[in-house]
Amino acid sequence: MSIRFDKEQRVFCLTTNNSEYQIGINEIGILKHLYYGAPVGQSNMNYLDSSSDRALSGNPYDNRVKRDMSHDTLPQEYTTNNVGDYRIGSIQLQSENGSFSCDLRYSRHSIKKGKYTLQKLPYVRGKNGNLAKDEDVDTLEIVLEDPVIKLEVKLCYGVFESKDVITRTAIIKNAGEMSICLNKASSMAIDFPYADFDLIHFQGKHCNERQFEREAINHDIITVSSKRGMSSHHNNPFVILADRTATENTGEVFGFMMMYSGNHKFEIEKDSLDSIRLVAGINDTNFNWNLGAGEEFTAPEMILAFSDAGLNGLSNIYHDIIRENVIDAKYYDVKRPVLINNWEATYFDFDDDKIKKLIDKSSQLKIDMFVLDDGWFGERNNDDAGLGDWFVNENKLKGGIKEIADFANSKGMRFGLWFEPEMINENSDLFREHPDWALKDPGRNPMISRNQLVLDMSRTDVQDYLFESISKILDSANIQYVKWDFNRSVANVYSSVTGYEDQGKISHKFILGTYSLLSRLLDRFPDLMIEGCAGGGGRFDAGMLFYCPQIWTSDNTDPIARLSIQEGTSYGYPACAMGAHVSASPNHQTGRITSFKTRGIVAQSGTFGYELDVTKIDNDDEIRAQIEAFHKYDKLMHHGNYYRLKNECNKDFFTAWSFVAKDRSEALVNLVVKNKEANQKIPFVKLIGLDADKEYRLEETGEKFSGQALMNGGFAFSNYFIRNGYFENIYPSMQAHFIGED
Ligand code: GLA
Repeated sequence: MSIRFDKEQRVFCLTTNNSEYQIGINEIGILKHLYYGAPVGQSNMNYLDSSSDRALSGNPYDNRVKRDMSHDTLPQEYTTNNVGDYRIGSIQLQSENGSFSCDLRYSRHSIKKGKYTLQKLPYVRGKNGNLAKDEDVDTLEIVLEDPVIKLEVKLCYGVFESKDVITRTAIIKNAGEMSICLNKASSMAIDFPYADFDLIHFQGKHCNERQFEREAINHDIITVSSKRGMSSHHNNPFVILADRTATENTGEVFGFMMMYSGNHKFEIEKDSLDSIRLVAGINDTNFNWNLGAGEEFTAPEMILAFSDAGLNGLSNIYHDIIRENVIDAKYYDVKRPVLINNWEATYFDFDDDKIKKLIDKSSQLKIDMFVLDDGWFGERNNDDAGLGDWFVNENKLKGGIKEIADFANSKGMRFGLWFEPEMINENSDLFREHPDWALKDPGRNPMISRNQLVLDMSRTDVQDYLFESISKILDSANIQYVKWDFNRSVANVYSSVTGYEDQGKISHKFILGTYSLLSRLLDRFPDLMIEGCAGGGGRFDAGMLFYCPQIWTSDNTDPIARLSIQEGTSYGYPACAMGAHVSASPNHQTGRITSFKTRGIVAQSGTFGYELDVTKIDNDDEIRAQIEAFHKYDKLMHHGNYYRLKNECNKDFFTAWSFVAKDRSEALVNLVVKNKEANQKIPFVKLIGLDADKEYRLEETGEKFSGQALMNGGFAFSNYFIRNGYFENIYPSMQAHFIGED
């Protein structure tokens, strides 16, 4: 059992193979955070508590003689409001009698085998097919209560012993008669009284998502958040607290990932005693949740991980838990299709003839699946019209979707289709019929973005319409894949069928509506694969990955720009989740010219595909060779460990990353030169994660090296690689495949 309760000292110890998490109950029932980090044997970390009397930090009334105990200085597991902790609160509320106060104390707990689940929200699965065994996961539930307002907060912890992951969430219940309005209801809090951390987070914008940023935490509150109605291009719901000295391969690092696709907020504060607090949950902007007697609110799940092997160590923990316990198990052992998407090939300008030519050529190139993107429905000839009208435009596609899908199938290809379910154009039949289905404030014109409005996904009639209209299309033809887009930030959050007192629920109910629609469609079409997308990678989060095994990483398909986008994404998410395609050169987003090989190497480090007009290029042999290589390396890249060897922060002239098989039997090093100079230096890397005692043969040259030499002495991309095109390409790239000898 990975959870132990020491009754005498009232300490919970949550143990994974390489981490330990401890929680204590103090003498008046305050739940203390005692420790998170590397294993500490059987020690109870209570001994680190060094509370002392501090001026201006008051004492709880029930223990007022002990002036050294204060909410204001105690490290805690879930923090209170208006009772003397002046740091970030986890909860903010107002009770019917007007009081803002919430003082939570231990009430009871339970420890069980297996993983708790959540209603209506995605969660890390305890048992996922036969991948994770039930007995690897244990659950601790601690109920805190405020006896005055009769509020109960159940803190849930899922301990994934062999994965070094702990999940957390909070379920808040009004156990009394008085109504309570929650204005903030975080998923978790944690305090690190002795740490000296940098904060790492992933900021960005459209076409430049998840850019790594590392900053010192000073005496202030740093917020990483989104209030765009999606997890956003701008701030991914994932942050890392890294020891100031931690690097890619060394040092202690802690990850906090929210499994949620809507508004989120991470607050990180260093207090005057240098203690660092992190609080994370749904963003409290435009949020309030009236809890009637007996009602509950469930906060989204957090995925916590610790590694003392630096950022690469942490990333591999997240990659494993996401591909084995977040993404549906049925995708684990199945090769993802190499697909071709017509967006950058045609944009809105297509008809059945053009699409059939693309399909025909793609099938000759052995591409597995054709995906018909935006523009096949309603009056959708540009982005001004049609969203919401999920019926085929037969002027463009004679014979409808079935004709195209059948044609693809007849050529041996599978077929996929684009939808943007949560959106509506004013210029659509749907809007003309149901103008109140769009989010809109009373008496105010709504904000328009890309000519579209946002549907009120909190409404069940809207969800039902989408379920039925999408199902009808999916029933009409052999459609095996859906690209699920979301192309604007949400504003004017107001539902016309909800009373004023519950408008603060709408942002969250919107996301629950999306999750519910996804679940219903996946139940109805169990073989359907859905790829997430939101104007590129605006909703790249663990919540969406619960439903969609892969997500389009960015609308920017330039391989050089993609280096930092995919690398930033890799800190939390595995390659098998990242949609990546070879597109045209010059690139449509940046105008940059790159070689076909470079585009291939970068796209192969995701779920591989093409997004260009294959009828107009002359790279057939290269495409065939790339697809062959993708199939050859699929298992290595999608199941193996991933290491950033030369990251984007190095500002070096190249970026390099590798995939190493779990059993260390082979490794693939990828390298892309970003800044080409005359009299170029030789790119050099030290490999990571090999078997030191094994001999590896470099497939390209037949040379042999020991694992120890490659890791300690390193590898220079010289001679063979230089002769093979190093100086020919504009942005040269190289792959070196090391095969372990038995
Ligand atoms: C978004 C997606 C693109 C494409 C367009 C279509 O921008 O990210 O891949 O599907 O929408 O409008």
